[in-house]
Amino acid sequence: MIRGFWYIAFKSTAVARGKTKSITLLNNDILVGRDREGSVFAYSDRCPHRGMPLRHGTFDGENLQCCYHGWAFSASHGECTKVPALSECDPTSPSRFRLQAYPCRDVQGNIWVFMPDGRALPQQLPSVPTVPGFVGVAPQISTTMRFPSNADIAAYGFCDPAHPAFVHTSRWWKSKSALKLRPKTKDFEPIEHGFRMKTHRLSAGARPYRLLGEDVQVDVALTLPGVRIEHIRGSRHSACVLATVTPITDGITDVHYCVYWTMSWLAPLRPIAAWMARDFLRQDLDMASKLAHGPETPPMLFVGDADSQIAWMIRLKREYLASQTEGRNFTNPLTARTLKWKS
Ligand code: FES
Ligand SMILES: [Fe+2]
Repeated sequence: MIRGFWYIAFKSTAVARGKTKSITLLNNDILVGRDREGSVFAYSDRCPHRGMPLRHGTFDGENLQCCYHGWAFSASHGECTKVPALSECDPTSPSRFRLQAYPCRDVQGNIWVFMPDGRALPQQLPSVPTVPGFVGVAPQISTTMRFPSNADIAAYGFCDPAHPAFVHTSRWWKSKSALKLRPKTKDFEPIEHGFRMKTHRLSAGARPYRLLGEDVQVDVALTLPGVRIEHIRGSRHSACVLATVTPITDGITDVHYCVYWTMSWLAPLRPIAAWMARDFLRQDLDMASKLAHGPETPPMLFVGDADSQIAWMIRLKREYLASQTEGRNFTNPLTARTLKWKS
């Protein structure tokens, strides 16, 4: 689990105005909420008085109140606004106490929480990952599955071209003939905290992409801590697929999968498309569940170019952790490469 990054906690619609929802992120219990005005917030789910989880308390859209001794906290800044047991002649000001806040943003249909690395928050927070061309738009499809694996294993599925032919074999996704592996050549370049598969023309075979029109072009960016953004443009429409991992604990990870598209006429087909997305993700979950029953530390062999992207993710993470320990800036260790594999 790496800190110093934004992670999706919930989809935006999961937290209504005046409501809160608790979640564990990177082993930290966090209370996410939305105030009366619609702004989102995230605090440590512990009352600073005696540690009662605030999820057991109440929220009136403005103040969170602990269920134990009734301390109240402003949802907008986390400051204590009331200590009911304090007598009028006690000079203690409730505002001395505050909840531990986490930066929280509502972006493109997801609520993101920034998990700091233990040091003071940076002056300027990194920007929340966004998909290009869908400003202020929520995804048409959004699905989350909880994987019984660490975030690395869950994220490797985002850049593992050797598995789809064996795992994602549903009829609706690829025709049977597509199971014959085809040679692929893809160019990659380093980007901030990751790498990008350069824009290339989509090969025939993946049916849903044909909805975008002719000459469908794709590029895929993969960045730490496990954010994959696929941008697909055709002659008529474009679509983006955002896939991210959110570590819950060391061995449990939420995988979020969001699809954005410009084809408004496709709205009636959303339930079917959502089912397809879930079916696709369930196939990865099935693999992760089977792996979870394997050896504690699975072998990590990287053979041929098909395994290179996972090896790159591991190098990126190693460099990030080293840069943190050594108190220096991160330097992307990757260089531009062309990879060849069969998938
Ligand atoms: S533990 Fe929350 S008010 Fe006492
Ligand atoms: Fe997969």
